[in-house]
Amino acid sequence: MSDSGVRRAPVEPGDAARAYNDRTKFRYELDTGGNEEIVTGLPPDRLPALGAQDPANEPRLFKIYRDLEPIPLASLPIEASISALDALTANGARASGVVIPDIDLLARILQRSNGILKRGISHRGKVVDYRAAGQTGARFHLELYLVTGDLPGLDAGVYHYAAHDHSLRRLRGGDYRAFVTEATGLEPATVTAPAILVFTSEFWRNAWRYLDHTWRQVYWDMGTMVTNTLAMAASVELPAEIVCGFADGEIESLLGIDPAYELVAGLVTLGRTDTIASTAPPIDRIDHAVEPLSPAPSPRFPVIEAAHAGTSLVTGDAVRTWRAATEAAAPFPVTAPPDSPAIALRPSSTSARSIEDVIEKRRSNRKYAEAIPVSFEDFSTVLTHAAGTPRLDVPFPPSDTYLIVNNIAEIEPGAYYFDRENSAIHLLKVGNFRDAAKRLCVGQDYPAEANLVAFGLADLEAIYRVYGDRGYRIALLEAAIFGGRMQLAAHALGLGAVGTGSPDDEVPLFFGPHASGKEWLFAAVFGIKCKPTARENAILTSFLDGDRS
Ligand SMILES: Cc1cc2nc3c(=O)[nH]c(=O)nc-3n(C[C@H](O)[C@H](O)[C@H](O)COP(=O)(O)O)c2cc1C
Repeated sequence: MSDSGVRRAPVEPGDAARAYNDRTKFRYELDTGGNEEIVTGLPPDRLPALGAQDPANEPRLFKIYRDLEPIPLASLPIEASISALDALTANGARASGVVIPDIDLLARILQRSNGILKRGISHRGKVVDYRAAGQTGARFHLELYLVTGDLPGLDAGVYHYAAHDHSLRRLRGGDYRAFVTEATGLEPATVTAPAILVFTSEFWRNAWRYLDHTWRQVYWDMGTMVTNTLAMAASVELPAEIVCGFADGEIESLLGIDPAYELVAGLVTLGRTDTIASTAPPIDRIDHAVEPLSPAPSPRFPVIEAAHAGTSLVTGDAVRTWRAATEAAAPFPVTAPPDSPAIALRPSSTSARSIEDVIEKRRSNRKYAEAIPVSFEDFSTVLTHAAGTPRLDVPFPPSDTYLIVNNIAEIEPGAYYFDRENSAIHLLKVGNFRDAAKRLCVGQDYPAEANLVAFGLADLEAIYRVYGDRGYRIALLEAAIFGGRMQLAAHALGLGAVGTGSPDDEVPLFFGPHASGKEWLFAAVFGIKCKPTARENAILTSFLDGDRS
């Protein structure tokens, strides 16, 4: 957003996204003591990777509308028809027919996406809410809103899901779905959706720790959370589709949010109706009072604002034109695997666990039993369940997945390429790359111990040529969904998993010529869980208690 508040069009496709990506790249630099530290930006820029994290001004982790009456929600388990593993790859549920969610199903999907599942006390006596989906740095900056027609148990309206008390608060009464539909350029799944979920980020909550890097993390965290949403929906055969094309400003005004402080990350349609809403009430300005996030006013983040504005779409017509261009360019070219022989995966592991159970029990795992191999079947099952294509409003640009194998049965430790199309891996180089795994995960220890580290990369220039700047958001989201599914599939098999950051430009260099020209997007690990000692756990999770490192 410019100073005048006008959304500025980027000069060339990719300009805004590339500028943001370059400015927020992690890289190693020597500090004054001669030790390596992580900074951001391309040389000569040397920007801090972490903020000051003033404890006196720490933002709260919830958006709380001050004067709106809560509509309490039940918490009734869903009746899942398939296992968690199957739910991760079931990508569209029923091909046709009317499927209308009621308030209890929506409540459970909201809770299993962004709700609190239990409350605990950290080793330093701080209250910790265990949330359904992990988010970077436990900064929980994402919010969910619902735009619905009349549903069983819920009148048509625009609602905010209040995670802190598991309730809805009504921002507008009436059926506003036609307004959303228009903003998406009449996207078909939106036209027939009885309910539309809107993901937003109150980014100061995360930027307090991560500064401008937060905007990437919006899509990492949404990808992680929407994995829960889609798997919950698939478990009850509720159609669900991610909608990336929408006029940002229109959805902001519908929710009454200010893009200087809260941005719309994406939409997800839920269900299918044959009662199409054709008109919406007028969009009067709303400005419901909210509790301040922090004692001092939320600061502005011009780099985030510029990146978001530069990747925004302005009108429903512009969205339609944009989506048509992406469809004309489909299918997006698939990367040819390296020449080394294909090693076929054997995804034969099973698990009867439901998605609710997996979400309930999952926790980010940072300690691994490095000497115990993960079976080739489990490894194969996790990767193939990560690789499915969720339903999206535009042709999917799949990221390329590169692997560091530390300890997987039947294959040599080394670097590999995962050929998603053909469910096979290809060796790039043999070796013990535990040290490299640590380095490529910003110096953290657990990637060296974990059995596998997966990195999502993409040729962003090719993506910009088709999707424009908006492609950056989609590429990050797609790679994060791969990572989110990988983690839930690992949890379903009783393995541990967690995400990680990386020094961007070192990742394609490590994976050699096959990865050259690509940009790093996302990374996550999985492996055999190992219980940390109380002391190790305190160190591994010290950032939850305000550790500034
Ligand atoms: C995209 C993503 C990246 C993450 N990166 C790291 C990381 O680099 N190091 C780390 O210790 N935890 C990382 N985490 C884990 C979060 O810290 C964790 O989700 C948060 O503390 C909440 O804990 P929970 O996942 O157990 O609910 C990451 C999580 C996500 C979703």
